[in-house]
Amino acid sequence: MRERKRTDATTPELCSDGGAPMRLVAASLSGQSDAVWARAAGEYVDCAILGGIALDAPSREAARRLVARDREEFLPARPLEFVDDQLAALSDLAIVTGFNVRSTSPGPVREAAAVCRDHGAIPEINAHCRQDELREVGCGETLLRDTDRLCEQVRAASETGARVSVKVRAEVPGVALAETARAVEGAGARIIHVDAMDSEPVIREIRGASDLFVIANNEVRDRESVREYLAYGADAVSVGRPSDDPRVLARVRKAVDAWTEREASP
Ligand SMILES: Cc1cc2nc3c(=O)[nH]c(=O)nc-3n(C[C@H](O)[C@H](O)[C@H](O)COP(=O)(O)O)c2cc1C
Repeated sequence: MRERKRTDATTPELCSDGGAPMRLVAASLSGQSDAVWARAAGEYVDCAILGGIALDAPSREAARRLVARDREEFLPARPLEFVDDQLAALSDLAIVTGFNVRSTSPGPVREAAAVCRDHGAIPEINAHCRQDELREVGCGETLLRDTDRLCEQVRAASETGARVSVKVRAEVPGVALAETARAVEGAGARIIHVDAMDSEPVIREIRGASDLFVIANNEVRDRESVREYLAYGADAVSVGRPSDDPRVLARVRKAVDAWTEREASP
């Protein structure tokens, strides 16, 4: 494995490799993205975002309903302890770590962010998941339509001193992600993790609208998809569904490194 130095998630540069910019991220898959998953992906990626995890009573109840219809979810008895234990299990791993969190209110987000901060990890606020159960209780994607509530969560997490990411999705009717980006940046977020769906150019809009670190996501699989997102101005790309497939991760790593080298010596 490449030797990498752990980076404190509160430092100004979002880096791995002891100073090289973070370019490749493993994205959360609920019920799957745990410390074992992150360790395996860590062979290839600069950052692994564990979770997502439901933090408060309404989001946990929604997660239970998801499990009842056969979706995988993390539902530990004590979510904060779970976050702490999972991140602690990765303390020897020289990549940036993070935890994707779902909540209907800011208090539990603040607590989870403090745990992340203590591990030098990134709390990632989930404004992305669109399952009915999660939307009905007012978390996940619903937060995109309610920027004030989203910003309350961002502010709560940022106040801990952690470097905060917000995971968003494109193609939500009535939601302009450029505006969302400006709002969450104003509330203290430093990173926006964008599931671009089939709207890849949205990355360029978000890049132009804010100084957030932009992670582009959705169907990042090969040289073509990596180049497309980075050409739109993404700082990094992320891999979700095939993040347990070393062949995909190796191919994406190679594409990302080739792009970075080309940028360094045009
Ligand atoms: C089974 C499954 C679970 C997921 N769980 C989460 C989650 O908990 N939080 C989140 O932000 N995104 C979640 N995602 C979305 C992925 O992180 C990613 O955004 C999406 O799969 C698109 O990227 P990909 O094409 O690389 O898979 C999940 C996706 C899948 C398929």
